[in-house]
Amino acid sequence: MPDKPLEVRRDLNRLVLSVNSPDELMSGISRLLHDSMPKYNWVGFYILDTDVQPPVLVLGPFQGAMTPHPRIPLNQGICGAAASTGKTVVVDDVSADPRYLACSTETKSEIVVPILVKGKVVGELDIDSHYPAAFSAEDRELIEHSAALVGEYLETSAPMKVPGCE
Ligand code: SME
Repeated sequence: MPDKPLEVRRDLNRLVLSVNSPDELMSGISRLLHDSMPKYNWVGFYILDTDVQPPVLVLGPFQGAMTPHPRIPLNQGICGAAASTGKTVVVDDVSADPRYLACSTETKSEIVVPILVKGKVVGELDIDSHYPAAFSAEDRELIEHSAALVGEYLETSAPMKVPGCE
């Protein structure tokens, strides 16, 4: 059996060389992860808007159904927890986590990985699965690699635009 995460990692590394903006990169990553990994049922980015007080996470490019949470304060949800601590959060059973903000009734597990630029959180990559405990150490590595690609791209290119504030 081919090593799927390795194959996807190669595709991601190729993608980053072909895009012209952070938005194109995030759209490409969400499409690639969603279409290549069968357990990744919702894949999307949130961007941290620090122009408002208190700062808020704003939905960016995503693949999957529209979420009822296009804006998430830092003190809410798994998304808020990952962004406010700067650490990856993996939840094997969302129904057992009181922080969880429901996006789809089908979601069973979730991972959120912060995107860092010069050590500061600027956004995050959020993935939901219809399968419990869908995110193994190997998945986590792939998703953290994806978020790091966006962080590295931003460090060497234009700053990220918050959707709706262009
Ligand atoms: N479940 C997230 C909310 C975002 S949706 O999953 C897209 C959370 O608890 O923060």
